[in-house]
Amino acid sequence: MAALLSVENVTRRFGGVVALDGVSFDVPAGEIVGLIGPNGAGKTTAFNVITRLYRPDEGRIVFDGHDLLRTPVHRVVKRGVARTFQNVALWPTLSVLDNVKIGAQARRGVRSAEELLEYVGLSGLAHRPAAGLPFGTLKRVELARALASGPQLLLLDEPAGGLNHEEVGELGRFIQQLRADFDATVLLVEHHMNLVMGISDRVYVLNFGRLISGGTPQEVQRDPAVIEAYLGDASAAA
Ligand SMILES: Nc1ncnc2c1ncn2[C@@H]1O[C@H](COP(=O)(O)OP(=O)(O)OP(=O)(O)O)[C@@H](O)[C@H]1O
Ligand SMILES: [Mg+2]
Repeated sequence: MAALLSVENVTRRFGGVVALDGVSFDVPAGEIVGLIGPNGAGKTTAFNVITRLYRPDEGRIVFDGHDLLRTPVHRVVKRGVARTFQNVALWPTLSVLDNVKIGAQARRGVRSAEELLEYVGLSGLAHRPAAGLPFGTLKRVELARALASGPQLLLLDEPAGGLNHEEVGELGRFIQQLRADFDATVLLVEHHMNLVMGISDRVYVLNFGRLISGGTPQEVQRDPAVIEAYLGDASAAA
């Protein structure tokens, strides 16, 4: 069966930096796929080219049979791709609820913004402005906003940011549950190895813009190229 998302030979440069260097990987429908790598490896850039924030210099991205690079930016969500941002991108003066409603504007999911806030455990904060809420809470608001568009593919950029050890464990179970509840496919960028390895069906590894490994969590963890890439990388400690 064809993959839901195919990234094919994608290159993206920023001046002299090759953020993505001929990267190819597939995300099969229904899977949780981890995308890992040391800081600066190109993970967020991969999300930015998939969501059309950045145009790749070379390569193709096919989503659900459509050439995403020919899809206007504003139609990417309509096609069924939604994301959260590493550093959170919410409207600070809008309420939590209104931020979630924005997700339904491009494409409406099955559940209302109110239901989604309840799903992520934030009903009590619906009418609070987003500004000033803790980072981990804002990441949950973003997740609800992404779900509001009823995505087929959910891109999560470091969803465990701002969470303590116990909360990271809960997040893993939560992501597995939402895959089932929303019939979604998940592409997950995370530095928390226990989380990624614990819930991913397959994992791809980037290092300096190149895809250096891919396979089951067990295969990737044993891969000498991966171990070498992470040696001395403090962000992998968790
Ligand atoms: N808009 C940009 N302008 C210039 N350089 C950029 C830009 N975006 C990314 N880069 C560079 O591309 C490389 C990959 O960055 P990217 O943010 O994709 O890494 P990452 O894997 O997400 O890292 P982290 O784990 O720290 O979030 C880095 O060298 C970064 O400085
Ligand atoms: Mg990043």
